[in-house]
Amino acid sequence: MSSHGDPIVMTSRKGGPLRGEAHVPGDKSISHRSLILGALAVGETKITGLLEGQDVLDTGRAMEAFGAQVINHGGGEWSVHGVGVGGFGEPENVIDCGNSGTGVRLIMGAMATCDMTVTFTGDASLNGRPMGRVTDPLALFGTIAVGRAGGRLPMTVVGAKDPVPVRYVVPVPSAQVKSAVLLAGLNAPGETVVIEKEATRDHTERMLVGFGADLTVEDTDEGRVITLVGQPELKPQTIIVPRDPSSAAFPVCAALLAEGSDVLVPNIGLNPTRAGLFYTLQDMGADLTFENMREEGGEPVADLRARYSPNMHGIEVPPARAASMIDEYPVLSVVSAFAKGQTVMRGVKELRVKESDRIDAMAKGLRAAGVTVDEGPDWWIVTGLGFGNVAGGITAESRLDHRIAMSFLVMGLATNAPMSVDDGGPIATSFPIFEGLMKKLGAGIVRANA
Ligand code: S3P
Repeated sequence: MSSHGDPIVMTSRKGGPLRGEAHVPGDKSISHRSLILGALAVGETKITGLLEGQDVLDTGRAMEAFGAQVINHGGGEWSVHGVGVGGFGEPENVIDCGNSGTGVRLIMGAMATCDMTVTFTGDASLNGRPMGRVTDPLALFGTIAVGRAGGRLPMTVVGAKDPVPVRYVVPVPSAQVKSAVLLAGLNAPGETVVIEKEATRDHTERMLVGFGADLTVEDTDEGRVITLVGQPELKPQTIIVPRDPSSAAFPVCAALLAEGSDVLVPNIGLNPTRAGLFYTLQDMGADLTFENMREEGGEPVADLRARYSPNMHGIEVPPARAASMIDEYPVLSVVSAFAKGQTVMRGVKELRVKESDRIDAMAKGLRAAGVTVDEGPDWWIVTGLGFGNVAGGITAESRLDHRIAMSFLVMGLATNAPMSVDDGGPIATSFPIFEGLMKKLGAGIVRANA
């Protein structure tokens, strides 16, 4: 089932090597935040390199519904004319966030301390995901949320008229929850404090500081303590969105798996809260190097060079690394199938509440393709078969999950028989140029109905 239109069956098969440069799109997390913070600043924020994936476009439309003006100038150049903190107007219609958990959770945070009532919905995947993790802390500000059983969308949120600042210890490692509370704290008087025991992606903190908010971060025995002073006037920014390490993961892993490959993926942000997959692949013996290491906008950036790596071995992935590679486990499980020995992934129960239950989705497809996968509530183990030994030859379900679809298509570049996915449509949510980019590198990826 496709989120937008008919299912697009896609197939990948073993072929020649992948060669050349892969220019992946802008970072999804930073793109959402650029639009939302731009809408909360007073004046024009200019954005270069915005990810023009469906998730981000849905957030842009939502910002317009709250009164900001979002303009696409073409060629990845966008601007947002913001209405300021506390300046949101009540949308006339339901806010449809499509497939995007980041979009809905951050926007709920941003409106939670505004005097308005907003109804949110999404596609079948998003409407099945838990929102209590966000609405529970928002209730501390005085926000009321009424959704379906289990705290699911569609959900109506009544923003707090007289919000109070909160102190909140985030119970799950989630940047979305942390960010929702911080965005709500923007329109509450006084100091909102968020404490996370495990560091998650820190784009919201970095960008809020960039927009002029008074925000400090302290590492303490209790965890990372983030303190935000409410009701700032955010100043519009000029933002250059870095390329997405989570999208880079796909051409990188494809190059490791397809015989004879040598691919350069330029300008990838290596923010420590995002780069865990690349260190994990190196630990597995991948021929993956960071070239031209530099700093851009205060963040480490490098060109990634990935070459065919037939001698990778399984490892125990350090659980402490999980948050920094949480979106990359599906494609890591594919690489693990071709490594020798077991790859053990623990401390990953968050994978069960992503766009799909990613452990279940990957385990089912991997098993059908001949790979042994063991799993528990918060762990899974893939027993690698080594190159040349993975059968493939199946159609995997992508379950409205872009990363599941791309992972199985990467897998098919090295299995003995081709791999198909029942619907590649969701890929457009985060990586709309995936198919063209991969084909240009030499990947054998086709649409069944093409
Ligand atoms: C994101 C946070 C992560 C990640 C998602 C993007 C963000 O989700 O999986 O793709 O931009 O804040 P969680 O907060 O659920 O871990």
